[in-house]
Amino acid sequence: MNDDARRAAIGRLGITIAIDGPAGSGKSTVSKAVASRAGIGYLDTGAMYRALTWFALESGVDFGAEGSDGLVASLADRMRLRLDSDPHDPHVWVGETEVTAAIREPRIALAIKHISTNLKVRAWMAAEQRRRMMEARQQGSGMIAEGRDITTVVCPDADVRILLLADQEARLRRRTLELYGDATEEHMEIVRAQVEGRDKADSAVSEFMTAAPGVETVDSTGLDIAGVCEAILAYVDEDLAAREA
Ligand code: DC
Repeated sequence: MNDDARRAAIGRLGITIAIDGPAGSGKSTVSKAVASRAGIGYLDTGAMYRALTWFALESGVDFGAEGSDGLVASLADRMRLRLDSDPHDPHVWVGETEVTAAIREPRIALAIKHISTNLKVRAWMAAEQRRRMMEARQQGSGMIAEGRDITTVVCPDADVRILLLADQEARLRRRTLELYGDATEEHMEIVRAQVEGRDKADSAVSEFMTAAPGVETVDSTGLDIAGVCEAILAYVDEDLAAREA
C-alpha cells in the first residue's frame, strides 16, 4: 500500500499500534517514523512514567518513607499531564511547566524504578494510555504507543502488536551513540551497566523480551530505521486489508 492509500484506509477504519521492547531496541525512533508515515499520533509511554517521576521529585516525595507508594499513586491523579502526540516534535508538560528535557536527566532514570514498580501507578498509567489510544482510533485516526507492556496490558486488543528486539550489543551501541555521540569501549561499558540494571528492574514488572501470543516479533539488529519501519507498515497494511475486506 502506498502512504496515501494507507492514510485513507486509516481515516475510514482507525488504528491502534502497540510496540514493546527493551531499552535501545529503537522503539521510539521507529515509532515516530511509523507515526509520520501513517499520519497518526505517537505516544511515548515511558515519557509518562518519567513525567510522574519528575513530579514526585519536584513534590519532595521521600521514596524510602513508609506510605510513599500510596502518596505517589495519588500524585498521578493530581498531575496535570499534557503530551503532544505530534511525532515530529513531541513535547511534555506537567501543569504549566514544560518537562520535555528535564525528564531525560539522569536523576529521573535513577528514581524511576520507585514509580514503574508501583502497581497502583501502573494501573493508572495503563488506563490513561489506553484511553488516549482508543480516543485517537475512534476519531478516525490512530495512535502508535511504545513501551514495555502495551502489547500485553495496555492494549492487548491493538490492531497491530509488535515486539521490537535487537541483540544486546546492537542495543548497547545505539544507546551509547545516543548518549555520548560515539561508541568507544569505555562509554559502552558505562552504558552496559546502566542498561543491564534497568532491563532487570523493568522485567520484574513486565515481560518484554518474549512475544505474547499473537504479537509479531521484529528483530532490528541488521536493519536500519527505514527497514524496521517497512516491516511494521507491512503488518499495518495486512491489518487494514483484513478489516476492510
Ligand atoms: O522507554 P523509557 O526509557 O523512556 O522508559 C522509562 C522507564 O519507564 C523504564 O525504566 C521502564 C518504564 N516503563 C514501563 O515500566 N512501562 C512502560 N510502558 C514504559 C516505560
